[in-house]
Amino acid sequence: MAAGDPREVITVADPAALAQTAADRVLARIGANSGRVAICLTGGSSPKKLYQLLATETYRSQIPWGRVHWFIGDERFVPADNPLHNMGVARQIFLDRFAPPANIHPIPTGAADPDAAARLYERELQSFYGAEALGPAKPLFDMVLMGVGPDGHTASLFPGYPAVEETRRWVVGVPQAHVEPFVPRVTLTLPVLGSCREMLFEIGGADKRAILTRVLDGENLPANRARSTGETIWLVDQAALPANSRER
Ligand code: 6PG
Repeated sequence: MAAGDPREVITVADPAALAQTAADRVLARIGANSGRVAICLTGGSSPKKLYQLLATETYRSQIPWGRVHWFIGDERFVPADNPLHNMGVARQIFLDRFAPPANIHPIPTGAADPDAAARLYERELQSFYGAEALGPAKPLFDMVLMGVGPDGHTASLFPGYPAVEETRRWVVGVPQAHVEPFVPRVTLTLPVLGSCREMLFEIGGADKRAILTRVLDGENLPANRARSTGETIWLVDQAALPANSRER
């Protein structure tokens, strides 16, 4: 990790510990706010174990469901019942069983095109936030969950794409994905994802080792540019760690 890097890397043993540590951090964030809580979920396979854990009695009984709102950081532009739909996966695993429907905030992929969906979601986020400009003293989200793809993308912010440089729009359409699944995407932009008390990356498995090595080397990748205005945590398991930083 480069000197002066404000990120914290937390290493855990394996995928089970990854999910449990993430779930404990979600509970801690919820517990730290006695008012309305906003959590921004992520897609891909990495958070599925965490979502399953949040559905277990131990965790779900500790969540004050009525005052927690659930958003999504990026979406594949497919119908809500398509298995690729990120919020659809979270709904199926835990949200639809426990969260009041009004507290689930999906990106509306029934809109005419990804950009129209982006504009609708931007309005929804702004109305939830209560302003059209983000202020540093008032983060939009309590917690933002993130993953990293093999090319260093995070959310649907792919390397070299204009969406990565966007600072005015809150949400943008991405007509073409850079990696599978090759469906159009809708993504929150870096300043909006960063407007949070905690940004938590979950990185597990040997498949992530190559990209994590590049990230930790400080390469200019979208995932490296995603920073919270509060805490930025990279939660990493042993299998994903570069060989020279693994515990023996
Ligand atoms: C998506 C994501 C994306 C994901 C990474 C990691 O819609 O695909 O939100 O940014 O987090 O690609 O995905 P995996 O967890 O499947 O490796």
